[in-house]
Amino acid sequence: MNKVICTLLLSGLLAGFYSCNNSVHKPEYRGLIADNGMVVSAHPEASEVGKRILENGGTAMDAACAVEFALSVVYPAAGNIGGGGFWIVRTADGDLAALDFREKAPDAAYRNMYLDDDEEVIRGSSTSTILASGIPGTVAGMAKGMEKFGTLPWADLLNPAIELAEKGFPLTASQARSLNGLKRSLITRNTWRTSFIRETLWQANDTLRQPELAETLKRIRDNGRDGFYKGETARLIVEQMEELDGLITIEDLAAYEAQWREPVVGNYNGYEFVSMPPPSSGGIALGQLFNIVAEYPLAEYGFHSIEAIHLMAEAERRVYADRAEWLGDDDYFDVPRKELLSPKYLKDRAGEIDMNKATNSEEVSAMQMIPEESEETTHYSIVDQWGNAVAATTTLNGGYGNRIMVKGAGFLLNNEMDDFSIKPGFPNVYGLIGGDANAIQAGKRMLSSMTPTIVNKDNELFMVVGSPGGSTIITSVFQTILNVVDFNMGMQEAVDASRFHHQCFPDQISVETDGLDSLTIVNLEAMGHKIKPRGKIGRVDAILVLDDGKLEAGADKRGDDAAKGH
Ligand code: GLY
Repeated sequence: MNKVICTLLLSGLLAGFYSCNNSVHKPEYRGLIADNGMVVSAHPEASEVGKRILENGGTAMDAACAVEFALSVVYPAAGNIGGGGFWIVRTADGDLAALDFREKAPDAAYRNMYLDDDEEVIRGSSTSTILASGIPGTVAGMAKGMEKFGTLPWADLLNPAIELAEKGFPLTASQARSLNGLKRSLITRNTWRTSFIRETLWQANDTLRQPELAETLKRIRDNGRDGFYKGETARLIVEQMEELDGLITIEDLAAYEAQWREPVVGNYNGYEFVSMPPPSSGGIALGQLFNIVAEYPLAEYGFHSIEAIHLMAEAERRVYADRAEWLGDDDYFDVPRKELLSPKYLKDRAGEIDMNKATNSEEVSAMQMIPEESEETTHYSIVDQWGNAVAATTTLNGGYGNRIMVKGAGFLLNNEMDDFSIKPGFPNVYGLIGGDANAIQAGKRMLSSMTPTIVNKDNELFMVVGSPGGSTIITSVFQTILNVVDFNMGMQEAVDASRFHHQCFPDQISVETDGLDSLTIVNLEAMGHKIKPRGKIGRVDAILVLDDGKLEAGADKRGDDAAKGH
């Protein structure tokens, strides 16, 4: 018997063992359980703000707005008013909505803006300079969200964030480490001392105060969206642009609009998922993944069985190939949604998979690579006492965006322009490329992977889920949902379970260190997969509605994430 047959036989036995195990599997442990409402976010202070809004009679949408502003204070790595994001909303009546407050390219942006005269990429220009910033969307998004869904006064949603900025909050140990690591780039990229800089190193539980940010938040509280896009804040942003030769103008700011979009809705094994349409690739990619794996008995294969990992990685490989070619802002590029989600096309895609052998990514698509995205984004999930739910993902793109703070306004700018294909058709500075669909154009939104998602079962709310993680967002959300619906895990267990990721190029399965046992790795390698250990994948914050109607939180232990319920 040769080595491959031998390992495949072994994998069959092993898969049998895992499926057997899975069929009797019950959630081993649970996350926080609450009777009425739940907030799960990347920071305990932000979750606490959301919980207080819920306790005071606010809805999940009110709480989401307050959490978004609180995260801009207590989680400056990704929480923001200088960035953008998406909400998926499900009302207690079952109405669905998708809110797009993604950043936009300024009016002066153009396709080759990050290339020199020789059409070579200017290293760092789309990530670490003022040119990296798109027009921020968060404040307009919150105003639009509250115009439709708000029940509490706008000021009540801003005041908790203002208090946290004014009085300060205790840094977690990982935040202290992260700010210490940031010191040099903050000093280099800002000509004055920001709130994040001090002589001595930050320690856990040190208080971080942000008085300038508090003043900006007060202007937003008192003037709504105009407190950001007009007047003093807009003036400070534009002054910063002029000082550093940035592109965003007063007109760009005044013209920015958040948009309501039609969510992507689909089904998987009796569950309905609702997720984000373009300019995110998340919803379409998730729909494709579910349709492809639905052609196989995934639940029988079992959690982290060889077959399950192989099938999911092969599905991911194909979906990321399509993403690179076909996904972009469909206000500017005709995204073939219907075709990408066509059952026949996805059945054919599923049929391409050889269950004994890894496909070579070069054979899946002519596209070479996709833009690699920074993994610093943040997600929060909220459910209220009436059953309204919000899945929200928001970002500055890189950790602390481009690390340029608006002088006098106390907030960081995003570097989201790097989510465009900065050099369509050719590898960018990260050795990656995208297609025309995501080329830079004035006013266009850059393609995202953010995948805030709500899952329903029998027309009732079942799960609220999402993650940061750049291109790994989609697979993190996909795997977390499968962990519950196919592998019978509870919410916390599903969130804690180790993850893996395939994005077509590079042609490898990235696996969290120690996430798979060595025998499984050997078997996958025998099938032709390249296995690459890496650090954490995603940081999922999710809520599950249990059979008795109670809510179970899944707050990702990979970070400081915290659930607060009532
Ligand atoms: N900047 C990460 C994303 O939007 O996917």
